[in-house]
Amino acid sequence: MAESMKGLHRSHRCTEVSNANIGEKVTVMGWVQKRRNLGSLIFVDLRDRSGLLQIVFDTDSVGEEGFAKAETLRSEFVIAVEGTVTKRTAAVNENLKTGDIEIIATSLRVLAESQTPPFAIEENSLTKEDIRLKYRYLDLRRPDIQSKLMMKSKVLGLMRTFMSNEGFLEIETPILCKSTPEGARDYLVPSRVHQGNFYALPQSPQIFKQLLMVSGYDRYFQIARCFRDEDLRADRQPEFTQADMELSFVDIEDVLDVNERLLKYVWKEAIGVDIPTPFPRMPYHEAMDRFGSDKPDTRFGMELVDVSDVVRNCEFVVFKGALEAGGTVRGLNVEGQGAMPRKRIDKLVEFAKGYGAKGLAYVCINEDGTYKSSFAKFMSEEEMNALVAAMNGKPGDLLLFAADKKSLVFNVLGAIRLEMGKELGLIDEKKWNFLWVTEFPLFEYSEEEGRFMSMHHPFTMPMEEDLHLLDTDLGAVRSKAYDCVLNGTELGGGSVRIHQSDIQEKMFELLGFTQESAHEQFGFLLDAFSYGVPPHAGLAYGVDRMIMHLTGTDNIRDVIAFPKVKDASCMMSKCPSEVAPKQLEELGIAIAIPEAEETQE
Ligand code: AMO
Ligand code: AMP
Repeated sequence: MAESMKGLHRSHRCTEVSNANIGEKVTVMGWVQKRRNLGSLIFVDLRDRSGLLQIVFDTDSVGEEGFAKAETLRSEFVIAVEGTVTKRTAAVNENLKTGDIEIIATSLRVLAESQTPPFAIEENSLTKEDIRLKYRYLDLRRPDIQSKLMMKSKVLGLMRTFMSNEGFLEIETPILCKSTPEGARDYLVPSRVHQGNFYALPQSPQIFKQLLMVSGYDRYFQIARCFRDEDLRADRQPEFTQADMELSFVDIEDVLDVNERLLKYVWKEAIGVDIPTPFPRMPYHEAMDRFGSDKPDTRFGMELVDVSDVVRNCEFVVFKGALEAGGTVRGLNVEGQGAMPRKRIDKLVEFAKGYGAKGLAYVCINEDGTYKSSFAKFMSEEEMNALVAAMNGKPGDLLLFAADKKSLVFNVLGAIRLEMGKELGLIDEKKWNFLWVTEFPLFEYSEEEGRFMSMHHPFTMPMEEDLHLLDTDLGAVRSKAYDCVLNGTELGGGSVRIHQSDIQEKMFELLGFTQESAHEQFGFLLDAFSYGVPPHAGLAYGVDRMIMHLTGTDNIRDVIAFPKVKDASCMMSKCPSEVAPKQLEELGIAIAIPEAEETQE
C-alpha cells in the first residue's frame, strides 16, 4: 500500500549527495531503477531527475520489517529512504556521479507501487518511438530526454536574463487572434458567442509586436508559442516556440549586433562554447550560387560551379535544351570519388529525381585521366576537356551535373552536396558555423497561385536601392530580411519592417490585395501606422531548433515534452478527437465529411 509523506522531508536529490556528506543522515526520494538481492544485502539504484544513487539495505540498519519491505521493491516503485552516507568499500562505479558512495538505509517508505513499464527506463532506449510517445510520461523519465528538457529550461532562462539586461520588456500577445491569409495555414478556433466566426491561433506574434512598437514599448521580447498547420518534418512541429523580439529606432546592423551577443552569451553559458562574432554574412544570391541553398552548411566546401557558358554550344540536348529554355547547367566536383560504383551513382540519380530533376549527368575521371561519362558521346573531346577544367576536375574525381531551370538545379545540387558531405564524412561536427543570410528577394513567384507572394511576410521592407524595381521587376527586388543560419539549418529570421504607409499600401497592392481586402485583413495595423510609427525591425528564433543544436539531436520531438507526430496528432492523449454533439451545437457547427472518407478512416 502507498505510504504518505507525513513527517518526511527530502534533504537531497540523488546526485546532490557526495563525498562531502559521508557520515551524515540524508533523506532521498525517487524511483527504483533496479534492485539486486545479495543474500543478506539488498542493493537498490534510486533514480530522480538528477541521476542515480546506490542504496543498501541490511537487517542491522533497516530492521527485519524494513528489509522485508525492500525485498518487495520492483522497478519504478516510488520510495523514500532515510539513511547514512558511507564510502563504498567495493565496486566503486566510475561512470556514476555518486559512484564512490552509497546510502545505508535506516528506514524505507514505499510511496507508490508501479506496474511493470512497457519499456525499460534507460539512457538510450531502443524502443520504437510510437510506443515511447504513447507512454510519453514514462519516456520523459529517461535521462537523455530529461537532460534535453533541462537544457531548454536553462536556455530560456539565459535568454530572458540577457534580453532583460538589454532593456527588452517581456510582453504577452494573444493566442486567440484574427485569421490572416499569408504564410502557412491557420489553426482555427470556432467562436461560441459569435457563431460562424473563428479565431486563429497565431503563426507568430508578428502584427502584435509591430503594434507594440507603435505604442512606444521600444524593445519587446517574448517566448511565444506559435501554431502552423503545415506538413511536418524532422525539424517542424505544428506548435513550436519562438524567442521573438522587436526593436524600435534601429536598422539591420543594430538587430544583428544584439543577436550576435545574445547567441554568444547563450552558447557560452549553456555549453561553454565561445562563438566568434561578428558572424559572417552572405547575400541570398551568393548562398544559392555557391551552395544551392538559402541556409548553406558552410562546414565543408564542394561548392556549385556554373558551367552554362562552357557547355552553351555543345550538342548534348539535355544541356542545350535547358539553356535554350532559359535555364542553367551547374556541377559539383565530388573530389576523390571517381571510382564510385555505378550502382551508387544510379542511386544518386534517383535521389536527384526525388528532388524533381529529370536526371543527373556525370563524369568519372579515371586515374589515367580518361573519362567514364553518361554523356561524353554527345560532346567533342575539347568540350569535355573544357568542362572538366571548369570544374577543376583531377584524376580520381567525380563530376555531377544538373541542367534545368535555376531554382530546380539549386535544389537538386544543394541536396546532393549535403548528402555527399554527410556520406563522405566531410562535415566537421565540432564546428559551430553561424551565418547571416541577407538580401533575400522580397517576393517569390508561386506557380500554384500564379502570382508573386511575400517571401517573408508583407511587412518586410524592400532595400532602399531597389525601391524603383517595385514598378518594373518584382522578382529582382531585394528585401531587408535576414536569416540566422547555423550549420545548414535556419535558426531564426527577421527583417526591417515597412514603416511608411505609402510603401505598405503598395506592397498590399502588389500582393494582390484590393484596398478593401487589405483594410479588412490589416486595417487596425494600417490605422495604427497613421498615428506615428517608429522605424522598427525584429527577429524570431525557433527555440526548439536551437535546443536541438545545443543537445545534439536531429529530432525535434526530443526537445518538446509532449510533441505531435507526423500527422499532427498526439499519440498519448489521442488528440485531435471528435467532440460531443452538444459542443458542436453550441458552436453552430455541423460536420460535413463525405461518407467515403469517413468509412476510409
Ligand atoms: P519565421 O516564419 O521565419 O519568422 O519563423 C522564425 C523561426 O521559427 C522557427 N520555426 C519553426 N520551428 C519549429 N516548427 C515549425 N513549424 C517552425 N516554423 C518556424 C524557425 C524559424 O527560423 N514573425 C517572423 C519573425 C520576424 O520577422 O520577426 C517569423 O515568424 O527556426
Ligand atoms: P539520356 O540521353 O536521357 O539518357 O541522358 C543522358 C544523361 O543525362 C543521363 O546520365 C541522364 O541522367 C542525364 N540527364 C538527363 N536529364 C538531365 C538533366 N536535366 N540534368 C542533368 N542530367 C540529366
